[in-house]
Amino acid sequence: MWLYYCELVAFAIRKESLGAPMLTRREFVAAGALGAGVAASGAVLAGALAAQGAKPDEASADVVLKPNRIDHAIHAGTTTRDMMSYGVDGPPPVLRMKQGEAFTADLVNGLDEATTIHWHGLRIPNAVDGVPFLTQPYVYKDERFRYAFTPPDAGTFWYHPHCNTLEQMGRGLTGLLIVEEPEDPGFDQDLALNLRDFRLGDDGQFIRQFKPRLAARGGTLGTVMTTNWQVEPRYEVHSGGLLRLRLAATDVTRIYRVSVVDEDAGDRTEARVIALDANPVPAPFKLEVYPIGAGQRMDLAIRLPREEGKVLRVETQSGAGSRVLATLITKGPDLRRSFAELKPLPPNPVMEPDLANATTLPFTFSWSAEKSGMESICGTLGYTFWAINRVPWPGDVPDPGGPLAELKLGQSYIFRLINETPNSHPIHLHGMSFKLLRSNKRQLLPLVSDTALLLPQETMEVALVADNPGDWVFHCHVIEHQKSGLTGYVKVV
Ligand code: C2O
Ligand code: CU
Ligand code: CU
Repeated sequence: MWLYYCELVAFAIRKESLGAPMLTRREFVAAGALGAGVAASGAVLAGALAAQGAKPDEASADVVLKPNRIDHAIHAGTTTRDMMSYGVDGPPPVLRMKQGEAFTADLVNGLDEATTIHWHGLRIPNAVDGVPFLTQPYVYKDERFRYAFTPPDAGTFWYHPHCNTLEQMGRGLTGLLIVEEPEDPGFDQDLALNLRDFRLGDDGQFIRQFKPRLAARGGTLGTVMTTNWQVEPRYEVHSGGLLRLRLAATDVTRIYRVSVVDEDAGDRTEARVIALDANPVPAPFKLEVYPIGAGQRMDLAIRLPREEGKVLRVETQSGAGSRVLATLITKGPDLRRSFAELKPLPPNPVMEPDLANATTLPFTFSWSAEKSGMESICGTLGYTFWAINRVPWPGDVPDPGGPLAELKLGQSYIFRLINETPNSHPIHLHGMSFKLLRSNKRQLLPLVSDTALLLPQETMEVALVADNPGDWVFHCHVIEHQKSGLTGYVKVV
């Protein structure tokens, strides 16, 4: 364990001296070998451990995550007070683990309120799913809770609290989690971008996280758009190299419409979508503009321009035009790589649903009559506006009511997701992945996912095998919707 610790520290020092928050292929492999790596932002796990004074020993976890309040400069010149991170003086660390290898994380609560950690998209046992009351008790100040699991799938995931989420996630507690394939697909670089907004006033300080009027509609957007907690960061990338760019929408509200623009080549940018929501797509396709709603992820393979000093802009498109999320600048000699040299990503071991024998379950997402929310240690918005199957979720309370449906272990189900509202909802299921079947509005790729972006008035069918026993939360990932009624759970027995 000491060796592991020292290697991480050495690794951290080497990273710091590099300055630019990027990994070369060699370092990427080294990071993988350690079983835990460096954050795209340059923050490292070793830093987290050292900052907490944790003594690595036989019993210590792979990582200790200590949510606490920090002051941090999002804008140069202003310090935002009372941001929240996981034991580091900057964005939450990017956690790296390997598919099929055991991992342990200790949550040590440094906040003066209750919290938990949920591992978004990981198909792991219910006991480590991180949902208060349904799967575990609250973790109060200074308490420790150990999460031990073995990730069955590779890909881009993320982690966040499941208590007082609008406040805790709104202030920063959203981190990326990368599960590496056992075999390196052959990229020169791997760069992860954590996309999220903060609601700050002109003075750089937090303003109220939401407006009730907007919570009852599409949700309240932030005022400062960030990537890895920076405004329009720039990253150096290898000329002529193959880049794996991982994007995760960890914002509490925003739906990003992502494109990558080569300043010289325009739409001839060589960017392909290789995975969505951690699962490899059936066939990689050229990125034009692709939407990722709150909670969703996208992995791109990018063949970088051959000359030095070329600029690619990662952008999000909106009605008002495009906004830059990050800029990539080529450096160094031409690596002369080509897409053909990449190994295709192997599909994750998700069971194929038996559609001929599947039971269809309808889930209707609607407005509900406005009521006041129930008091909860995990926070309430004070209202309920939304409902699943006409029942608004009362909040994270000891007796949230019965499940939306009871599923038999090993059986196949079709979830009919019916959006009766004029708003989009990224609908997320814990603990199991589903396959997209069809929609009344558009052609769907047969993607495997944990979060389906439901368009206004859309009815979509998704299918799954109920192969993970327990109570699994099922909710909209627009956190204001989640916290004002658009939540429920299914029970697998
Ligand atoms: Cu990202 Cu209930 O989860
Ligand atoms: Cu989740
Ligand atoms: Cu919603």
